[in-house]
Amino acid sequence: MEKFVSSREDMYGLASTIIMPESVWAASGHLENFTDPLDGKKFNTMFKSEAGARKGETTNVYLRPELAQGMFVNFKNIVDSFHPNLPFGIAQIGKCFRNEISPRDFLFRVREFNLMEFEYFILEKEWEKHFEYWRKEMWDWIKEIGINKDKVHESEVSKEELAHYSKRTIDFEFDFPFGKKELYGLAYRTDYDLANHKLNYYDEETKKTFIPHVIEPTFGADRTMLAILTGAYAEDELGGEKRVFLKLKPRIAPVKVAVFPLLKNKAKLVEKAREVYKMIKVAIPQLMFDDNGNIGKRYRRQDEIGTPFCVTVDFETLENDTVTVRGRDTGEQQRVGAKELLEYIRERLK
Ligand code: GAP
Repeated sequence: MEKFVSSREDMYGLASTIIMPESVWAASGHLENFTDPLDGKKFNTMFKSEAGARKGETTNVYLRPELAQGMFVNFKNIVDSFHPNLPFGIAQIGKCFRNEISPRDFLFRVREFNLMEFEYFILEKEWEKHFEYWRKEMWDWIKEIGINKDKVHESEVSKEELAHYSKRTIDFEFDFPFGKKELYGLAYRTDYDLANHKLNYYDEETKKTFIPHVIEPTFGADRTMLAILTGAYAEDELGGEKRVFLKLKPRIAPVKVAVFPLLKNKAKLVEKAREVYKMIKVAIPQLMFDDNGNIGKRYRRQDEIGTPFCVTVDFETLENDTVTVRGRDTGEQQRVGAKELLEYIRERLK
C-alpha cells in the first residue's frame, strides 16, 4: 500500500472514496473509530520459521500456504526424467499453513490443514476442454466418496474476485450446517507460475519450446472429511430406541465389518468368532472384534462410527455354520453361510 499512498490523509481519502461518499463519511464521524492505516497492524500471511541447528546461523523459511509451487518446481525434474507428453499431471497431498485466517467452524477453517492438489499441464488452446474434463472428474469424485451431490453447488468466481493467477475459477460449495461454503476449487492458472519460475517444455514432435498452461483442481482434505461427516450423520428410531448413526458409503467407512461372539463367556462362540474374524481379515483388513457389553450396545457403537456390517456368531452357527449379518442402515439381519460370508460382504462393499 505504501507505493500508492504517501500520507495518512491520502489513505483516509482512499478509504472514504471506496467505502462511502466523502460527505456521508465526514458526517458519520466514523473516521475517529478507525486505527491509523499506515502505522496500523500488518498481516502475517505466512508462517515464518528458522532452518538451521545453530542459533545466529539460521535461514528464514516460510511454511507453504499451498502445494502448487512445489509441484511447479518439480515440473522440470519430471519433464527431464520421464519426458511425458502433454497433457500430464502432478498430484500431491500434504500439510499447508495459513497464518492470516481466523480459525473457525471446527475443521472448516484451520491454520494447519491437509490439501490435495493437481497441476495438470496442457496446451493453451485446449484449456477449455481440460477444464471441462476436470469439472466432471470432480463431480465423479464427490459421488464416489459419498458426499450428497444435492448439497454441492458450483459457483463461478467473478472476474473481480479471481486470484491474480487465474483466468477462470469455479468453486464447489457445500451446504455445511453453518452455511454454504467453499469445499473445492477448479482453476485455470494459465502459464502464470511456470513463466514466473522460467520453466518451459520442449515438444519432441513439433520441435518447439513453449510454456504449458495449467488446470488446477484443488481439494481440502479436512473440508472433505467435514462434508462427509455432516452429510452422513443420521438419527432414527430402531427397536423403539433413538439411535445415532453415520450413513457412510461402505467404501469409505473406516471399519467395514465388526465380528462378535453372541456371548463373551461361551468359549466355543468366542473361538468360532475368532476364526471368522481371521478369515475376513485376509481380504478386508478394516475389521474389528468386539465382545464387550451386550450385543445391542455393540451394534450401537458400530453404528456411531458408520460400520456397514456386523457379523454375529451365535449358537446356531455351531450347528449349521451360518452367521447373522446385520446391515447398519436398516438394522435388518440375514443368515449367511460362513463359507459365503466373504463374497456376501465384498459384493456389498463395492
Ligand atoms: N492452490 C490453490 C489454493 O490453494 P485455495 O482456495 O486457497 O486454493 C484450496 O485452497 C482448498 O484448500 C480450498 O478449496 C479448501 O478446500 C482448502 N482450504 C483453504 N483454506 C483452508 C483452511 N484455512 N482450512 C481448511 N481448509 C482450507
